[in-house]
Amino acid sequence: MKPLLEARNLTTMLRSRQAAGRGGAGVVTAVDNVSLKVGAGRALAIVGESGSGKSITCLSMLGLLPSNGRLVEGEVLFKGRDLARMSQDELQKVRGREIGMILQDAMTSLNPLFTIGDQVAEVFRYHQNITDRATLKRKCIEVLEKVKIPAAEERLNSYPFQFSGGMRQRVSIAINIALSPDLLICDEPTTALDVTVQLQILNLLRDLQREQNMAIVFVTHDLHLAAQFCDDVAIMYGGRIVESGPIGDVFERPVHPYTVGLLQAVPALAAYDRRLAAIPGQQPTLANLPQGCRFQPRCKFAVAQCSTQYPDWFEWNEGERRVACWLTEQRLGAYDTRVPAGPRRSAEALQEVSR
Ligand SMILES: Nc1ncnc2c1ncn2[C@@H]1O[C@H](COP(=O)(O)OP(=O)(O)O)[C@@H](O)[C@H]1O
Ligand SMILES: [Mg+2]
Repeated sequence: MKPLLEARNLTTMLRSRQAAGRGGAGVVTAVDNVSLKVGAGRALAIVGESGSGKSITCLSMLGLLPSNGRLVEGEVLFKGRDLARMSQDELQKVRGREIGMILQDAMTSLNPLFTIGDQVAEVFRYHQNITDRATLKRKCIEVLEKVKIPAAEERLNSYPFQFSGGMRQRVSIAINIALSPDLLICDEPTTALDVTVQLQILNLLRDLQREQNMAIVFVTHDLHLAAQFCDDVAIMYGGRIVESGPIGDVFERPVHPYTVGLLQAVPALAAYDRRLAAIPGQQPTLANLPQGCRFQPRCKFAVAQCSTQYPDWFEWNEGERRVACWLTEQRLGAYDTRVPAGPRRSAEALQEVSR
């Protein structure tokens, strides 16, 4: 697969008060050597507990880091160009036109002082230099209808506060897909919404993805949504990716103990006859990362090597599957002897391996 977007070895530092006074200059590494790929028209989920670095990874790729953050290493290859080496002017043209982004809180991504129509029209004004009012109006209605806003024409003069959360999120989707981008980055786009609205929004995103052959990066802590919605997954922990691959394979045959732990904490994905189990312990703070594997203090399989040396990548299926865990071979071996086929069997095997 030739990826549409490929991030290589992204490393992002943040100046932080948390880290100040700990010997360094108050700098933490929020994204550490992160590599990921998104194929054209495919959806990649980035999954991990809150604080694992998912948002900072996305912002690093888009050149939108907060003022205390800096991408210190890595490439962000998008259609052959390196976004990490573009000027803000160039990036601003790519964002919106070729890459859309949808953030968690639609209330803050829309300006409360402008009408919905004005904010959608701005995309066409800025990127396509369209000034003719009738054309702008027609284009706005078209794109609002595409995201299934009822009575679109009448809503053009409404303000964001007159819309429900779900409707506001539809408007920000409209703004971001208006120019048919090749890639849409969605950072927890539905977390603030209730469950039925969540599903409506995700179905909408999936329809748009298919219609426009758009690739999606979908950041979520919800494994169930990721499984329903995405083709590939990257699991993040403590600023690093610990496991990645096609989502069906990763969720059926998780190898990293952190991935296994996450799956067991989710009702619909946990092995059927097993009680839900939260992963004991907490994610380390960036100012206080453990030696070696970052998950090691919480890992029930950890051996001596895990606390001294960060694990090398272990790759198989021509690099499609990757895991950073010293015990990969052993854990994979357990699957090979115990998992012939079928979800029921693999659920049992998952219990075996994680025992
Ligand atoms: N603006 C910021 N300044 C300092 N630290 C930050 C900032 N934003 C996030 N962080 C820290 O960076 C880490 C990763 O954050 P984030 O990417 O937002 O996590 P996630 O999206 O996975 O919940 C966290 O430890 C968080 O506290
Ligand atoms: Mg986040």
